Amino acid sequence: MKRKWWHGKVAYQIYPKSFQDTNGDGIGDLRGVIDHLDYLKSLGIDIIWLSPIYQSPFVDQGYDISDYYKIDEIFGTMEEFDELLAEAKKRDMYIIMDLVINHCSDQHEWFQKALKDPEGKYGDYFYFRKGKDGNPPSNYRSYFGGSAWEKVEGTDYYYLHMFAKEQPDLNWNNPEVLNELYTMINWWLDKGVAGFRIDAIINIKKDLSFPDYEPDGPDGMTGIFHMVEGVDGVGELLEDLKHTFEKYDAFTVAEVFNMKKDELEEFIGDDGHFSTMFDFSAHEMTFGDHGWYDAKKVRFDDLKKEIFHAQKECEDVGFLANIIENHDEPRGASRYLPDYLQNEDGIKLLGTISVMLRGIPFIYQGQELGMENIPFKSIDEVDDISTLDEYKVALDAGLTPEAALKAVARRSRDNARTPMQWTGEENAGFTAGTPWLRVNSNYTAINVEKETIDPNSVLNFYKKLIALRKDPEYKETVVYGALEPFMEDRHNLMAYYRKGDKTLLVVGNYQWDEQEITLPSECKKVLINNYPDMVLDGNSVKLHGYQVLVVELA
Ligand code: GLC
Ligand code: CA
Repeated sequence: MKRKWWHGKVAYQIYPKSFQDTNGDGIGDLRGVIDHLDYLKSLGIDIIWLSPIYQSPFVDQGYDISDYYKIDEIFGTMEEFDELLAEAKKRDMYIIMDLVINHCSDQHEWFQKALKDPEGKYGDYFYFRKGKDGNPPSNYRSYFGGSAWEKVEGTDYYYLHMFAKEQPDLNWNNPEVLNELYTMINWWLDKGVAGFRIDAIINIKKDLSFPDYEPDGPDGMTGIFHMVEGVDGVGELLEDLKHTFEKYDAFTVAEVFNMKKDELEEFIGDDGHFSTMFDFSAHEMTFGDHGWYDAKKVRFDDLKKEIFHAQKECEDVGFLANIIENHDEPRGASRYLPDYLQNEDGIKLLGTISVMLRGIPFIYQGQELGMENIPFKSIDEVDDISTLDEYKVALDAGLTPEAALKAVARRSRDNARTPMQWTGEENAGFTAGTPWLRVNSNYTAINVEKETIDPNSVLNFYKKLIALRKDPEYKETVVYGALEPFMEDRHNLMAYYRKGDKTLLVVGNYQWDEQEITLPSECKKVLINNYPDMVLDGNSVKLHGYQVLVVELA
C-alpha cells in the first residue's frame, strides 16, 4: 500500500448548526468553530469535516445547496471562512468541506431556470421526463418517502429527486454540469480546503431507461436504491471526478452505500476513486425491512463479526474511515451498548474498539464526551425530514402514535444533532439565545467544562486514545499494523491484535460479569485501561465488567 499524508491523522465531524452559537440566534456559526479550534487541537484532531455551510434553504439541513460559492448567512461570511482556514493552518489542522453534488436545492438558479423551460439548456442539468399514462415515469420511492418524481405544474414533465422534492438530482451525463461542478471543486481547493467528504455519491449514476421494479411496499412503489443497485458504470464517473482531486493531493472520504461487492479496490485501493470511505457495516445491521420501525436490534457478537469482516476485506486494499455515529445516525453510546453498559465505562469500551481499528477514525462532535440520544417527548420536537417521514411510515404500517414515536425516536437523526454540550450553564453554553433544537437535559453531567477537569472523564479517555495513535513509539503499529482477531468466538469479548513493529492487544469485556482470558504472551505495558487496576495472575487476566485494555505484549 502506498503511504498517504493523511494515514496517521484523526478526523472530527462538526455539525455547524449545533456546534457553538456566538451571536445569540440559537444557531451555531463559523465564529463558534474558530473559537474552539484549540479545544479540538488539544483533543488531538487533525482533520475537521464541516457538514454543509453553503447557502441553503435548509429543507435537509444544508444538504440542499442553492449556491455552491456562498457561505450561508446563518453561519457567517466568506471572510470568516477564510479566517477559519488560516487559523486551522496555523495549528497544522486541515478543513474539509461536505461535497453535495448528487443534487442541489430547488432554489438553485439552475433549477429555477430549468423549471421555466424544462426543454431548454438548464432542463438538461436535471432529469425531466414525461409521465406514463398520468403516472410518474417510474415507480421509485425517494429516500425520504413519496415518489421520487415530482410533477412540474402546467406541464407533462416530472423531475427526479432521490431525496426530498426540494433536492432535484443533477444530470451527470451532461458535460456542462460536470464542468460547473469541477470548476466549483477547484475553486474551493484553490482556497485551501484539504479535501471533501463526498455526500451520497453512489447515486450519481442513473439507469436512464428508469425501469420500474417490483413494488416493495403497500404504496406500490419501490425503494430507489433498487435502481442504484441495478445500474453499472458509476466507476467511470468517479474516476473522472477523481482527477479534480489528484492535482491537490486532496483527502476525500465518501459516503457509499450499496457498493457492489467486488468494487472495493476500485473505490479505496491505492489508486481508488477516493482516499477512503466510511465503514457503515454496523449502521447497516440495524436497517429494518420496511423502515425504522422494524429496525433490528444489534447483538454484540454480530457487531463484532461485522467489524472484523469489514477490516478483513480492506486489509490489503486500503483504509476505512471508522465511525460509531454521525449526523445521520443515533448516538453510538445509546445504540451499540446494551442498557447495562450505558455508562462511562461502557462508552470508553466502545470508543476504544473504534479508535484502535485499522483505518482513519472519525469522531463526531460530542462523541468524545459520551453524548447520548435525546428522549423525545413528542413528534413536534422533531425537526428532521427523514424522521418525520419514518414516523408516517410507522403509522401507515399500523403502529399507534406512541409506538411510532418510540420506534423513530431510537433511530432519529436528530439524536446526534442536538447542541454540543460545552458547560453546565443554561443551554449547555451552546447559545445565549434559544437553541434551534432542544438541548439534551443530561448536559449538566455531560459537558466539556466538567470533563476537562475530571481525569477519569470520557473526554480525557478519548484524549489518551488519540495520543496513543500519535505516540512516536506506537504510531507505526497503530496506524499500519495488521489487525488480527483474538479469541474470536468467545461470547461478549471483543479482542484483536494490532501487529506492526510492536504487538498490541485490544481486549474489551462486553458484559456486566467478569471474564477471564489468557494473554498469548507476557504483558509488557498497559497503554489504555478504563479501570484503575488490572487483575493479572501470570498471563491470565480477570477482566472486570465492561473493562477495556490496550496492552503491549512481549
Ligand atoms: C447524505 C447526508 C444526509 C442527507 C443526504 C441527502 O446521506 O449525510 O444528511 O440527508 O445525504 O443529501
Ligand atoms: Ca449564530
